[in-house]
Amino acid sequence: MRKVDVFDTTLRDGEQTPGVNLNIIEKIEIAKQLERLGIDIIEAGFPATSKGDWEAVKRITETVKGCSVTGLSRAHRSDIDAAWGALKDSSEPRIHIVIATSPIHMTYKLKKKPDEVLDTAVASVRYAKKFFPKVQFSAEDASRSDWGYLAKVIEAVIDAGAAVVNLPDTVGYTTPSEYGKLFTYIRESVPNIHKVKLSAHCHDDLGMAVANSLAAIEAGVEQIEGTINGIGERAGNAALEEIAVALRIRNDYYQAETGLNLKEIKRSSDMIRKLTGLLVQANKAVVGKNAFAHESGIHQDGVLKEKTTYEIITPEMVGIASNSIVLGKHSGRHAFKKKAESFGYEMDEAQLNEAFREFKALTDRKKEVTDDDIFSILTEKQTSEPDGKRYELISVQVQYGTNHTPTATVALKTPSGNTAEEAATGAGSVEAIYNTLERLIEGNINLEDYQLKSIGGGRDALAESFVRINKDGVPAGGRGTGQDVLEASGQAF
Ligand code: KIV
Ligand code: ZN
Repeated sequence: MRKVDVFDTTLRDGEQTPGVNLNIIEKIEIAKQLERLGIDIIEAGFPATSKGDWEAVKRITETVKGCSVTGLSRAHRSDIDAAWGALKDSSEPRIHIVIATSPIHMTYKLKKKPDEVLDTAVASVRYAKKFFPKVQFSAEDASRSDWGYLAKVIEAVIDAGAAVVNLPDTVGYTTPSEYGKLFTYIRESVPNIHKVKLSAHCHDDLGMAVANSLAAIEAGVEQIEGTINGIGERAGNAALEEIAVALRIRNDYYQAETGLNLKEIKRSSDMIRKLTGLLVQANKAVVGKNAFAHESGIHQDGVLKEKTTYEIITPEMVGIASNSIVLGKHSGRHAFKKKAESFGYEMDEAQLNEAFREFKALTDRKKEVTDDDIFSILTEKQTSEPDGKRYELISVQVQYGTNHTPTATVALKTPSGNTAEEAATGAGSVEAIYNTLERLIEGNINLEDYQLKSIGGGRDALAESFVRINKDGVPAGGRGTGQDVLEASGQAF
């Protein structure tokens, strides 16, 4: 079976999703989860874009040792220098250089002639090669580029030292057979192509990102790029979990496989959903809530008689069946620690104690504590920012009645350590809480998005809330988890 490398760009292309704004701690936790998933290359960010991105790439490079870490760079020396600063301590420093090759991009965006673009591409790969043992070159908007010109650029960048050549379908425009033919054409017309790995990178504007990626694999690419849950610019990127499962289920056809540990798929999907606030549609393949639900009587009957009648993927394969009751009221700290370790979480004593306290409090209120609940508590603890400059919710109380205006009373600990209390009304209970919080928190706050979701099933399920606000022109996202929806909503704000 042929092995296809998996290049994950959740932290770069995925983070370009409008409204997504991950902090460094969250990015590191995601990178650690991607490592557990078995990703070959993590694109951790775009070091030249901001100090925060540079720092995140550097910290991930220092933290993740089980897979290769890379960073994006335009074909500029200053970008390459910034990437080297962030990536030089990696076990195998790798850079991802991009320049557009389509007539539309060259004319209107770059304002460069094709020959100038070719020279810039070659010069930047050559410059990067002085530092980086591995250089990946991407011809942005390759699918709308002239194939003959693309072949010329690729031959030249390989001569300059590129080790991987990526042909992105940047605007999600291509079709499976066309994309496959592009790779075949490049393989047949670039004389030095055997020196590099070819990579595919697809966007989902026409809903074909996964199909196009699989067509590229059929055409022989050795690397596939995408994101968890398919998040990304506009309609998103190819969903890596779908590609990996398709290769596993249809290995008879594709004769190719990834090195992913498929059992980590559900957990990876949950973490991305939780930390980005981007919900997963119920009918999404592989990780959607309904992906393994059988509703029609005929289907249920078939599945009861023989699962394979209507089920081609088992939930266990992607790590879903683990939702059994695992720890309860009588479980001790040692068992809880072991559970955290089995999720791959390494916590210091203080974090572990706090998470354990929360777990114990939950067992008092919730009959069945599942792996999903524990994973949620641990992720929350592991990604919470150190105390200090933040507001802390002390208590929320809401008076609600069908014929009364909801009124909230909220107590907060302010960043200076004082306790402040206020009350306000709203059209609904959540609005009353948010109006009160707005009175208590300094600055101008605009609520842009609010979501509420239950973790797992059952009437005593934990509530998870996500808000996106804009405070004095600065966008930010927040999460809250709680037994009660109002408490979770207040925490998120
Ligand atoms: O879609 C795209 O073209 C990209 C490049 C930076 C590879 O994300
Ligand atoms: Zn992209």
